[in-house]
Amino acid sequence: MKITAPRASDKSATYDHIAPHYDKAMRPLERWLLARLRAKTFAALPATARLLEVGAGTGANFGLYPESARGVASELSFKMLELARGKERKRRLHLVQNCAEKLPFADASFDAAVATLVFCSIASPTEAFAELRRVVRAGGTIALLEHVRPKGLLGYVFDALSILTVALFDDHFNRRTAEEAERAGLSITRIERHALGIINIIILKNNEK
Ligand SMILES: C[S@@+](CC[C@H](N)C(=O)[O-])C[C@H]1O[C@@H](n2cnc3c(N)ncnc32)[C@H](O)[C@@H]1O
Repeated sequence: MKITAPRASDKSATYDHIAPHYDKAMRPLERWLLARLRAKTFAALPATARLLEVGAGTGANFGLYPESARGVASELSFKMLELARGKERKRRLHLVQNCAEKLPFADASFDAAVATLVFCSIASPTEAFAELRRVVRAGGTIALLEHVRPKGLLGYVFDALSILTVALFDDHFNRRTAEEAERAGLSITRIERHALGIINIIILKNNEK
């Protein structure tokens, strides 16, 4: 497992600051909706897959990995990863610090990938999706739980809100994540919209290149 201290200029610095408060701040949302949606997202993954999680954060999903899970939970922020290390996880799940836009894995290393609440803060979703397409085998599943730009008038509210959230937390409130995934060459298997279409489960399939 490679864990290196990030430089202050790294993008990871944002979440290094947030890390000590993250789990507590998320608790009300988890109770209201997120915990249930996390479980549904993981239910879309094959039980015996070699699995990659990107942006694993403090390890909020570790309890949801299937018993036979093996693979990698990767994360950019050193401090988030440090907290994840303190959580119980499946024996064959390794923790790695890296950037989703530059994954240190060979082509087709995984059968499936998962990310929850990550594509809102990734600097380049285009590059991250290209990397997921490369490291997940053809025909593999990519399951996302993401907050996105909702449809209709609310979308414009989120465009305005995003100016503030990007400045404060590097968090884009108006990402069109499913569309971005399609542009990268992934097929949408299913989208489940929750909370006025703001929080979505997006199940994707990796196509042959
Ligand atoms: C809102 S948190 C979500 C954490 C966790 N997935 C969860 O569901 O609680 C976003 C996470 O994405 C990570 N992240 C942001 N940009 C990233 C990137 N380019 N590569 C990998 N992780 C990234 C952040 O460090 C942070 O831990």
